[in-house]
Formats: sequence, structure tokens, C-alpha cells
Amino acid sequence: MGTAISPNQIDARVSDFIEKPRKMLIDGKWVNSVSGKTFPTYNPATGEVLAQIAEGDKQDVDIAVKAARKAFESGPWSKMSATQRSKLIWKLGDLLEQNVEQFALLETLDNGKPLAVARAADVPLAADLFRYMAGWANKLEGTTIPLSVPYTPKAKYLAYTLREPVGVIAQIIPWNFPLLMAAWKLGPALAAGNTIILKPAEQTPLTALLLGELIMEAGFPDGVVNIVPGYGETAGAALAAHDDVDKVAFTGSTEVGKLIVHAATGNLKKVTLELGGKSPNVVFKDADLDSAIAGSASAIFFNQGQTCCAGSRLFVERSAFDQVVEGVSAQAKKIKVGSGLEADTTMGPLVSDEQLRRVVKYMDIGMAEGARAMTGGKKIGEKVYFVEPTVLVDTKDDMKVVQEEIFGPVVVATPFDTPEELASRANNTVYGLAAGIWTKDLSKAHRTAAALRAGTVWINCFNIFDAALPFGGYKQSGWGREMGKDVLELYTQTKAVCTRI
Ligand code: NAI
Ligand code: MG
Repeated sequence: MGTAISPNQIDARVSDFIEKPRKMLIDGKWVNSVSGKTFPTYNPATGEVLAQIAEGDKQDVDIAVKAARKAFESGPWSKMSATQRSKLIWKLGDLLEQNVEQFALLETLDNGKPLAVARAADVPLAADLFRYMAGWANKLEGTTIPLSVPYTPKAKYLAYTLREPVGVIAQIIPWNFPLLMAAWKLGPALAAGNTIILKPAEQTPLTALLLGELIMEAGFPDGVVNIVPGYGETAGAALAAHDDVDKVAFTGSTEVGKLIVHAATGNLKKVTLELGGKSPNVVFKDADLDSAIAGSASAIFFNQGQTCCAGSRLFVERSAFDQVVEGVSAQAKKIKVGSGLEADTTMGPLVSDEQLRRVVKYMDIGMAEGARAMTGGKKIGEKVYFVEPTVLVDTKDDMKVVQEEIFGPVVVATPFDTPEELASRANNTVYGLAAGIWTKDLSKAHRTAAALRAGTVWINCFNIFDAALPFGGYKQSGWGREMGKDVLELYTQTKAVCTRI
């Protein structure tokens, strides 16, 4: 551990990991599913089966929830000090960092993203998140509260609050940043002292399972983190509906987010949601146009466009429109689409055949509605899951491609004339996850930031993530926040203690 590993050794470690069907982690043990069933995960760059995974469903979820409940109520975890929890979470971050290469390679094989991106972004950001959250574990304080209600002249009260964990948490995550989404969910839940059943996306379960090995190596007690891979309609739905789960935290489509809310009504479990987006990215004519062009291209094309906060609606002040759109199209043409394992690849395949079909359908609908592709607009050859980075113009605000999340490398570009018009059109969507603003006029930047209904606003940058920066959605982009101090509120609950003294 911690020593340099040659590429061949990494390959050997990763191929060992995926050689036999991967088991699920329940109560500190790696087990098969009760049904004995497995499901395949694919390498999206080849379309071939990459690995077989134990397929969890309701029966496995029931066992995992029992283990998490026991660990929460009576296991060693429930008696640990906050500092002991902090040390375990910090250690997990260290172990992850020591295994960057193995995680990055596995992520690329399972998700398709360029290896350089997995190595430089996904894995280090996940390690960082654990360390940031480790720091919070022993700083979750309540308050003392002066009361003004003595009912009798002599009565005095001492009142304070305790911040306690919510309990048993189900976490359902997507496939676009498989390891990082696991970290965003696990880190704060663990810092606050909860226990967890994590369900990775069926398309990309491998890095979460590898993380499970590090969780055991770090020394987390049995049952604190349970990992149950499986499909959404079975394992995911069973978690969302489970009567002994205290909270469900979900990242994925707005459509499934609504199903989760309905499923949660049985026991009124708490719900947090990080859902879709159709984020506006606004370029004013006084921006540094070179950096606005590069930033706008990366705002949409990063991660094959499979980013919930992707800058998918590009608004450009009219006199700069042609220059910016031509610039972004030129950047799109320069993108090298290919297998994430090749060193010069800058965009990998989409994650799945389903996602490819969804994205291509949107491109076709856009064209049929009258949009024009400045560049792109098609899948690439007969190769699996690859699509062209695409810039659509001549759009109208009510078109499907302008209103709906495509979740692929497709941006719609449109000119605007005034800041007022811009704000109303930029806000004209059911989503409100993020927004970008490019201008040298900082007053205008902050006025625009205030006018946009979005959980994150990036000024002269885009897709900047930090464990300390809260992230989440306005409107139908979600409930609650991930990361930062804000997320800890959502993994704790307040107990008010009032004593007559
Ligand atoms: P999805 O929302 O179906 O999947 C996300 C997670 O939810 C997966 O773990 C899945 O197994 C689980 N799930 C699915 N149905 C469930 C149910 N009934 N109950 C509980 N859990 C369930 O997303 P999908 O189908 O993979 O992608 C569809 C679209 O969703 C994408 O095109 C994109 O627009 C959006 N999406 C947004 C993401 C985000 O980061 N906000 C991430 C992934 C997808
Ligand atoms: Mg789905």
C-alpha cells in the first residue's frame, strides 16, 4: 500500500477484482444474494460484459437494514466517540488516495470516462470529501438556549440542544460519478454517526464495492456500511419504502426522485434529493471570450455531458453570439472521442446503450423541431455508446431539447439582449441546479447571480466542486444540499433538552 504500482500490477489487481462475481457487503461480510442471482455490468467502450455482481433485492435489503439497525442501536459504532469516528473516516480517505490507480482504472472500465479524469478528479475528490467530513465528526455541536418562560417566579430552566444522528440511512446513487457520489453520500452520514445501506447504480457498481473493501480495512464496525447492488425497481424501491429506514438520500432522475418521495410516505422517512438540471450558462459580451468559450465547452462536455449541473443551455449576449458559438463548436470538434483507456481520449463513451439511445433521440427530436447542429448531432459510427459533441442553434425556449435534461454532450445555444430578458428565460425551466456567468463586470455578475434560481452559481468558472461548498437544487432539482456544512444538518436531528433546575 502506498508504494508505486506498475500498470501491469494494477491491471492484475483490477482483473482479479472483476474475475469472479462480486458479492455484496452486509454486516461486515461479503455475501451472495439470497436469490443467488447476479447481474452483469458492461464496459461501455466495448459493450462487453465487464463483471457479474450479486443482485440484491427486497430480501437482501431486509437483511442489510437489520444489520444497519443493530449497528446503529447497539453495535460498537453507537458507543464510539466522535473522534474515533473521525479517525476512521480520515483513514478511509487515506486508503483511497493510496489506491488512486486501481480505483481510477476500475471507474474508467465501468463508466467509460477518460482515465486521466478519473485519476485527477473522481478519486482525489472522493478522498478529499472523506477528509473534510472527518473533520466535522467532532464539531457537531448543539446550543444552550436561554428560556423566558418561568411559570412560577422561582422556576428556572437550563435548556440545550443535542445534535444526534438520524439513524439508518438508505443511499441510492447514480452512475455518472460512481465513486464520488458514494463518497458524497457516505462521508457526512458517517461523520454524523448514522449507519448506511448504499445502493450503487446497476450500470456502475464496481468502485462502490471496492470502496467497501477499504471500509472494512479501515476498521469500520460490522453493519455500519452495507452495500447492496441491484436494480432500482427492486433493491432501490425496497430501500425507499422500507419501514425501518429513517432517511433516504437519492441522486438521479427527477422522475425517480418523485417515486422515492411517494415510497417514503409509509413511515414518513426523511428524504433528500439531488436531481436533474438544465443549467443556464450565460456569456456577456464583455467577458474574456477566450476563457468563456473554453469554460462553456467544458461546462457541457465534461464527463460526456453526463453531469447533473452541465451547462446545457448556453445564453450569449447577441453581439458576441456568433463568436462564442463558433468557438464552442470549434472546441467540440477538437474533442477526441474514444475509449477512456487511450491516453489522448478527451471524451469517453456514454455509460450505456440506454443512455446512448436517449441522447440520440433527443438530438433527432431537436432537429425535427427545427434546431440546427453547428457541429455534431449523431452517434459515432457503429461503435457502441459514442456520440458526437453537439452544439444546437436556432432553438426556441419551449422546445423539448431546451426544456428537458438530455444528459449527454449536447448544448443548446441562444442569443439574448438584456439582463432582464436573460434572467426570465434562464429561469424558465422546472430545474434550478446550477448556473454559470461569464463577464468582467463584477456588479453585473453578482446581480445576475442573485436573479438566477439555482443552487450553485459559478462566475467566470464552471464545474468547480469542493467538499466545503454546498451543492444542491432549487425547484425540481432537489431537496437539501450535499457537501459543506449544510449537508450535516440533513444527517443529524435536533433534540431539545429542557431541565428545571
Ligand atoms: P435513475 O434515476 O433511474 O437512476 C439513479 C439511481 O436510482 C440508480 O441507482 C437506480 O438503480 C435507482 N432507481 C431507479 N429506479 C428506482 C426506483 N423506482 N426506486 C428507487 N431507486 C431507483 O436514472 P437513469 O435511469 O439511470 O437515468 C435517466 C436520466 O436520469 C438520465 O438521462 C439523466 O437525465 C438523469 N440522471 C440524473 C443524475 C444526476 O446526477 N442528477 C444521475 C443519473 C441520471
Ligand atoms: Mg431509470
